[in-house]
Amino acid sequence: MSSVHVPPDAMQPLAASQHSSPVLGFLNTRRSTPLALLGAPGPAPSQLDLILRLASRVPDHRRLVPWRFIVFTDAAKQEAAQQIGARFAELNETASADEVATEVRKFACSPIVVALVSTPDRAHKTPVWEQELSVGAVGQNLLLAANASGFAGVWLSYWYAVDPKICEAFGLCVTERIAGFFHLGTASENPIERPRPDMQKIVKYWQPALHDDAI
Ligand SMILES: Cc1cc2nc3c(=O)[nH]c(=O)nc-3n(C[C@H](O)[C@H](O)[C@H](O)COP(=O)(O)O)c2cc1C
Repeated sequence: MSSVHVPPDAMQPLAASQHSSPVLGFLNTRRSTPLALLGAPGPAPSQLDLILRLASRVPDHRRLVPWRFIVFTDAAKQEAAQQIGARFAELNETASADEVATEVRKFACSPIVVALVSTPDRAHKTPVWEQELSVGAVGQNLLLAANASGFAGVWLSYWYAVDPKICEAFGLCVTERIAGFFHLGTASENPIERPRPDMQKIVKYWQPALHDDAI
């Protein structure tokens, strides 16, 4: 089991940049692991503490910390999965027992599920959009910290992330939203690469427009 790092003194200057080929290689090859390939073991409590603390080291305009985590493990995770199955059956009256069981299994199959909850302060002068962007950064950091701790993971939402009854059952208030469920565990096989963005299409160096009167 990896040791938990002691955070540096808050007043100590940190490295503004640190060249690291391993980190570049890590970012270049990171991937999510499909749920079907995620099994035991998952992070131990001390490892999960570290993953969630590192996930929370993100840019955050005016330090509002507009997110929180809900961790599902063991019997409570199974109960949450059963509630998702029951809600699925309620919403889909013609669903077969197999279809309901699939919904239950999807939530319960990985050792640990972490719900990342967006908790924006709508009255604050920091726009909600910016608060939500911080939550997205937390999600990506969570995956990276899990991978760097030796675990695989995937960020999923599914229908129940936006189902009002499931959100209520998971303890959300009406101003909160689930940014995603992070399934963490160990990969039974390594995922293969998927197509990546064509950088030519999404990167442009801005140039001032040439107007006739400027020529
Ligand atoms: C907010 C959010 C919600 C997602 N929800 C789902 C989902 O419900 N089902 C799904 O198959 N993939 C979902 N994905 C995509 C998976 O995370 C997907 O495995 C991932 O984008 C694969 O890319 P990667 O290997 O580069 O991480 C979601 C992604 C994000 C960012």
